Amino acid sequence: MREDATGYYITGCLVPHTSYVTSAYHDQQEVTVITNEPQTPPASKPSPSNLQPSTFPPSHPRPPVPLLDLKAQYAAIRDEIRAAIDRVADAQMFILGPEVEALEREVAAYSGCAYGIGVSSGTDALLVALMAIDIHPGDEVITTPYTFFATAGSIARLGAVPVFVDIDPLTFNIDPSAIEARITPRTRVIMPVHLYGQMADMDPIMELAQRHNLVVIEDAAQAIGSEYKGQRAGSIGHMGCFSFFPSKNLGGFGDGGMVTTNDAALAERVRLLRGHGAHPKYYHKLIGGNFRLDALQAAVLRVKLKHLDEWTTGRQRNAATYRRLFSEAGLVIDPPACLIAGCRAHTEGDCDLPPGKVVLPVEAPERRHIYNQFVIRVTQRENVMATLKERKIGHEIYYPVPLHLQECFAYLGHRPGDLPVSECAAAETLALPIYPELTDEMLAAVVAAVAEGCM
Ligand SMILES: Cc1ncc(COP(=O)(O)O)c(C=O)c1O
Repeated sequence: MREDATGYYITGCLVPHTSYVTSAYHDQQEVTVITNEPQTPPASKPSPSNLQPSTFPPSHPRPPVPLLDLKAQYAAIRDEIRAAIDRVADAQMFILGPEVEALEREVAAYSGCAYGIGVSSGTDALLVALMAIDIHPGDEVITTPYTFFATAGSIARLGAVPVFVDIDPLTFNIDPSAIEARITPRTRVIMPVHLYGQMADMDPIMELAQRHNLVVIEDAAQAIGSEYKGQRAGSIGHMGCFSFFPSKNLGGFGDGGMVTTNDAALAERVRLLRGHGAHPKYYHKLIGGNFRLDALQAAVLRVKLKHLDEWTTGRQRNAATYRRLFSEAGLVIDPPACLIAGCRAHTEGDCDLPPGKVVLPVEAPERRHIYNQFVIRVTQRENVMATLKERKIGHEIYYPVPLHLQECFAYLGHRPGDLPVSECAAAETLALPIYPELTDEMLAAVVAAVAEGCM
């Protein structure tokens, strides 16, 4: 086991973090971190006295903890997966076909939607959803700057304008009360993102959309199975877009995605567009693209979908254990006034978040949070990250630069301070391991390391 320059731990080889390799993922997402090397705590830093000293006596090696361990997941379902792969290999039908159609029915049913259209990635799900409603250059799409790049990238690729609205500091999702002020005659779409696995506040968003005749496209890439007032992600807006990137709660053996909708006409357009707009073959009604989903991915995803609820329960159980452990360690503060009132800090020095404390993820009322990520806020993030790295505990910042300040969006003319809540979140958030196979000992090791980093 070695470590690359970006602090990601991978098995056996050195890989730059932009590479695509079996167990180290790229960009926004993780990094499967597998290591069996026992770690001893650094001698120089004392452990906080109130952190369950009996959990890790000085002689006891602390377990390394990957950010995500897909090998552990695979070990439990290996036979089922291999049978599904064999089925596709025997059929020799690799693109779309019965496996994809079955997955479309199953994901649509799971998400409470009438239609599902399998596509090549979450990014392409967003792109094809926007294409299906004929988004043109100059159209405006209201969205959040605190998300993975694909949300706004898909908008900009069609020549449309991403209009960024700041987030709610408690849930990190778009702040519905700030949307109306940004609606113009050119606005066509509101694209909320259900970040980290918790749905955005959909009632006011749908109300605004109805009043202004706008389309709502849910970016549900991180949120399969999450709920808002009993309704599943992807079933409230006009379309929902899912990602099956390997790190998602329902992740394939490569890229994949799905668009869901209850609108038969939209479903038909998305289906046409994903296959170059052709129907029948070689007769092109629309200019689409190759956004097709592979049968192998669908077969793997169908196996995994059967386990998804049990995995979600495991993630929720781990979140509850973190809450207990962080609280027992005396680290937790309720969101301070600055967050409840809406963060307005323009510089780091304005931040009211007290040092030495962490704000745990806030579950908004009437939600089912599926914990794609468990993201804390902490002011001493650099210290905490250094300790986590030292202990070989996986972690990541989702996301270090909000989209309105990304170089590629400089043409939009934003400046630091324009969207302070997102900027504040980008400076303070830190994702910790939450995958279902984590043991209590591993969770305790994470909390101990955060506690030490906070000192
Ligand atoms: C919020 C969000 N939107 C869109 C995407 C894009 O999905 P994909 O990586 O499958 O293209 C992701 C995935 O990482 C995401 O997290």
